[in-house]
Amino acid sequence: MGGKIGGKQAYRASIFHVLDDPRYNKDAYEFLEDGILVVENGKVSALGHAEAILPALSAEIPIIHYRNAVITPGFFDGHIHFPQLTTVAVYGEQLLGWLNEIIPEEEVYQQPEVSAERARLFLGECLRNGTTSMAAYGSWAKQSVDALFSEAERLNMRLVAGKVMADRNMPEGISITSPETDYNDSLELIKRWHSRGRLAYAITPRFAISSTAADLESAQKLLKEYPNLYVQTHLCENSNEVKWVLELFPERKSYLDVYDHYGLLGGRTILGHSIHLTDEDFQRVKETGSVLCPNPPSNMFLGSGLFKFQKAKDFGVKVALGTDFGAGNTFSMLRSMEEAYKTAQLQGYSLSPFEAFYLTTLGGARALAMDDKLGNFEFGKEADFVVLDKQSTPFLAWRMDHAKTPLEILFVLMMLGDDRAVKATYVYGNKLHDRDAHSSN
Ligand code: GUN
Ligand code: ZN
Repeated sequence: MGGKIGGKQAYRASIFHVLDDPRYNKDAYEFLEDGILVVENGKVSALGHAEAILPALSAEIPIIHYRNAVITPGFFDGHIHFPQLTTVAVYGEQLLGWLNEIIPEEEVYQQPEVSAERARLFLGECLRNGTTSMAAYGSWAKQSVDALFSEAERLNMRLVAGKVMADRNMPEGISITSPETDYNDSLELIKRWHSRGRLAYAITPRFAISSTAADLESAQKLLKEYPNLYVQTHLCENSNEVKWVLELFPERKSYLDVYDHYGLLGGRTILGHSIHLTDEDFQRVKETGSVLCPNPPSNMFLGSGLFKFQKAKDFGVKVALGTDFGAGNTFSMLRSMEEAYKTAQLQGYSLSPFEAFYLTTLGGARALAMDDKLGNFEFGKEADFVVLDKQSTPFLAWRMDHAKTPLEILFVLMMLGDDRAVKATYVYGNKLHDRDAHSSN
């Protein structure tokens, strides 16, 4: 592992972070052309213009100078699947057909050695793409979640994760859990991992199609017993999926209402996709404080539809952003920002880079109710950050030379950048990815 924990270290570069939700306060960001970020024992201890900070900085404090780079808070992926490493880029189907093809592969994650090896690969790829924290789905097997938490703990990453609960409508030949095993296995994982260091547990009913009423009651029971758990699930992703949910739960007035009925909405609930929502749904999401998490790379790949950014703004609901890897064909939140921009454009909404970076940093921290600890460089926050290279490819370097304002610089990065633009990724002040050193964790 590169870098070091503890001590004081200063980083010099352009520095950008968002201070509030730009949908309602478009100037709530700070861009320091020549800035210094000081990190002490894994936390932000100072931030400012280089000319102001340098004279006050003791000569003993090492300064790493990243030239032609922008430091931003680490990226948060609000929706990602650990057990889909071998099933990314599967040709041909939309959601329901695609799930039948890919879910059987999740079986192998009950083998601890397979899960352990893949957890290293998975989190390594996240770091290579600048993602320092995430809300992740395991497979139904608790071994998958044990492996992911163990690896995240080793790296000291902020991870929210859970095992999927699914007791019906799974593809043939795969293990079906029951409301009892879903409850017991989740509980075991909660006791082992929830609130341990930087880790937290999310109750994870896969989606309403794959959970009976009894399974959703198990989820509800867990949440009653541990009210500060997270909840993550899929909602209104695909129109055939929505139809099927309404057939399975005829007494419920909408797909969202299924989760509402079982008490699963609230300030720590992340609702993946949420594409086909009605105004009434948006209203209810607002009332419950739940978080919507569009995943544009997946929503394009599966042809699921376009997240309604304008409605989300009008109703004042919290929004984060994800990749939904492995329906999403990328780990890169820069790519997800790009596709979010295009999704919004198709609906006449211009998603600014400030808003896109907000969704990926402070918006994500707010989605986890962790914005007192993460999401920007306010004093005392955890020092998870990314160094983005403004010259990562010859053309990007050339185009960047013609970008002058913060808006232009950030927009070029999100439209032309990808994993090559991630020069370094720091977690709790510790360098875990160094593109040029070809470091391995
Ligand atoms: N709905 C239920 N499970 C899944 C999944 O694994 N991926 C996506 N995109 N949608 C789902
Ligand atoms: Zn998903």
